[in-house]
Amino acid sequence: MTAKTALITGITGQDGSYLAELLLDKGYVVHGIVRRASTFNTQRIEHLYEDPHHPQARLFLYYGDLTDGTRLAGLLEKVQPDEVYHLAAQSHVRVSFDEPEFTGNTTGLGTTRLLEAIRSVGLSCRFYQASSSEMFGAAPPPQCETTPFHPRSPYGVAKVYAYWVTRNYREAYGMYAVNGILFNHESPRRGPTFVTRKVATAAARVKAGLQDVVYLGNLDARRDWGYAAEYVEAMWLMLQQDEPNDYVVATGTSHSVRDFVEYCFAHVGLDWRDHVRFDARYLRPSEVDDLVGDASLAERVLGWRPTVRAPELARLMVDAELDMLRHSAGLMDAATERMVPAPTAR
Ligand code: NAP
Ligand code: GDD
Repeated sequence: MTAKTALITGITGQDGSYLAELLLDKGYVVHGIVRRASTFNTQRIEHLYEDPHHPQARLFLYYGDLTDGTRLAGLLEKVQPDEVYHLAAQSHVRVSFDEPEFTGNTTGLGTTRLLEAIRSVGLSCRFYQASSSEMFGAAPPPQCETTPFHPRSPYGVAKVYAYWVTRNYREAYGMYAVNGILFNHESPRRGPTFVTRKVATAAARVKAGLQDVVYLGNLDARRDWGYAAEYVEAMWLMLQQDEPNDYVVATGTSHSVRDFVEYCFAHVGLDWRDHVRFDARYLRPSEVDDLVGDASLAERVLGWRPTVRAPELARLMVDAELDMLRHSAGLMDAATERMVPAPTAR
């Protein structure tokens, strides 16, 4: 049997890196789209990289951008994927208030460009859209597949548009196109400005004596935090069903930002109150107060169940930060030992 071929947009992001690992483990040939930057943005997938000249290579990377539909169509034509996982987006909610037009263009219209590229090339591939619990916004918890959307940010609004265009291509053209409505999921690979990673990094650095305080915004917001490595499995399962459908993916538990801060600092034996300060710049003009997902459909149909909850997630993220600090300290020590003493001045 020939290996399946997948195309991942956003392969350099948190989820893209875990999904690439999962698909390579399952024997897929994986193609990823990377946006051009003046510095390397492939750190999260460096450990997966293979020389594409190697006859057994199964990971291939291409430059491409969500704002360039012609390029997307050209890549689809070349790669001929069986499955497309569309994960790329301007994914930061606070930033979307500063850059609403860019967020609409990438996070919203980017999905239309990709779907239209698939249609114009005439592919019959399966399509996964990275939809978000931010679409529920102000809708009271628990939220499930039938909860009405009430987005509270330009990011949430763009995701609602992308959700509906995905459903529209399913209904209008019979495409196997699905929305995974994922609640917050985190990991040591989380972007450093999302709250869980920011706090885990701060707790480790305070413990190591490298900083004393961290500035945060709203500590009262509640989120349903799960572990990213488990959530990519649900994405894959959604594309393996007989019929396309949309699914909520969540743990069903909620914790406040304050709780998460406490879990992180307590893990290194510190009282968070001594190290957290308020800064209004991290507040949002309109906030999402409480997200708790009901993922019973995913459990029933896909057989998917999460195992990691927020307290354990906090511990594993802080441990990863401590490991990184120890590793860099080790490298510094090794470099110092190798240094040739400077010649004595005459
Ligand atoms: P992430 O770490 O921010 O990764 C986003 C990816 O999109 C990165 O690879 C980024 O490239 C790429 N990208 C951004 N703008 C692009 C553009 N114009 N053209 C091409 N690529 C572009 O996000 P994530 O946490 O992995 O999330 C993956 C997807 O799931 C996103 O669509 C996000 O909105 C959605 N989502 C995430 C969560 C969550 O809790 N993590 C929950 C629900 C939905 P660079 O690496 O160069 O920045
Ligand atoms: N980022 C950040 N930084 N958030 C803070 C801070 C801070 O210093 N202080 C408090 N918060 C609060 C935010 O106001 C929000 O209520 C909560 O922490 C979580 O913020 P983020 O970690 O930035 O995540 P998010 O919930 O806004 O968005 C993430 O989850 C969505 C799914 O619900 C992103 O990954 C989105 O892409 C994703 O769709």
